[in-house]
Amino acid sequence: MGIETRPLAGQVVAITGASAGIGEACARALHEKGALLALGARRDKRLRELVEEFGADRAVGVVTDVRKPSECNDLIKAAVEKFGRLDSVIPNAGTGFYAGICEYDDEAVADVIDTNYAGTVWTIRAAVPQFRKQGDGGDIVIVASVAGFRGGGNEAVYTGTKHAQVGLAGSLDRELRGEGIRVTLICPAAVETEYALGRGRTAGDSQMANYLRADDVAHAVVTVLEQPRRVRTTVWQLWSIHEPS
Ligand SMILES: NC(=O)c1ccc[n+]([C@@H]2O[C@H](COP(=O)([O-])OP(=O)(O)OC[C@H]3O[C@@H](n4cnc5c(N)ncnc54)[C@H](OP(=O)(O)O)[C@@H]3O)[C@@H](O)[C@H]2O)c1
Repeated sequence: MGIETRPLAGQVVAITGASAGIGEACARALHEKGALLALGARRDKRLRELVEEFGADRAVGVVTDVRKPSECNDLIKAAVEKFGRLDSVIPNAGTGFYAGICEYDDEAVADVIDTNYAGTVWTIRAAVPQFRKQGDGGDIVIVASVAGFRGGGNEAVYTGTKHAQVGLAGSLDRELRGEGIRVTLICPAAVETEYALGRGRTAGDSQMANYLRADDVAHAVVTVLEQPRRVRTTVWQLWSIHEPS
């Protein structure tokens, strides 16, 4: 008997921000489970390397800037053209800065808002019509942050976008669950990725040893997707055992 899980083999999953960090870790974990992947990010070379590693019959890479709705649509379209359907979408692409509210320029502020919040909205708007067309539900797993539930020093704009993702997900859960579309927030605390390294922290920083690993987040994503369809997980917060909250 054992615990009932939902096999992911053959399921079609689209991931944004798949070229690095948490998105890449999700791609690897889902590939190991047998899922078929549509990988979106701006760095084409990294996407091509992943597709080569996974096999062109098991993955497709699509250069996607999530700030552009048409490119989010293209990612979903590529998944459906290649694999015939879409089972899950993981809006994960994100960016941020550790700096005071006036310490970075207008373009950088707009980039954080457009990538983290608008990019999540565009990605979901691209996927939902496909779920509806198929008529058998779907999964939206948003990689947000614990920053979506509290203030963060020197990361106000980023934190605001993460709160926005939380509000979006709570509303979409109400809007979509009647159609069998599950909406989950995966909310990690600090994770050792390029994001953490590139914004004011450096490799070897003693703080980093205490961070979560990207694989820890990927494990949560896989677990949520593997749950039987009668279960919906709305929020999963992940903290390192070492990190003070
Ligand atoms: N690391 C942490 O401490 C932490 C903690 C909590 C939550 N998170 C969240 O986790 C998510 C992933 O972050 P990460 O830590 O894995 O960061 P990362 O290693 O820097 O990876 C970010 C990913 O997002 C993609 N991306 C950035 N801007 C994009 C855009 N405009 N269009 C498409 N893709 C874009 C990047 O790909 P390209 O550059 O190739 O486009 C990359 O694949 C983010 O939403 C972040 O807020 C991270």
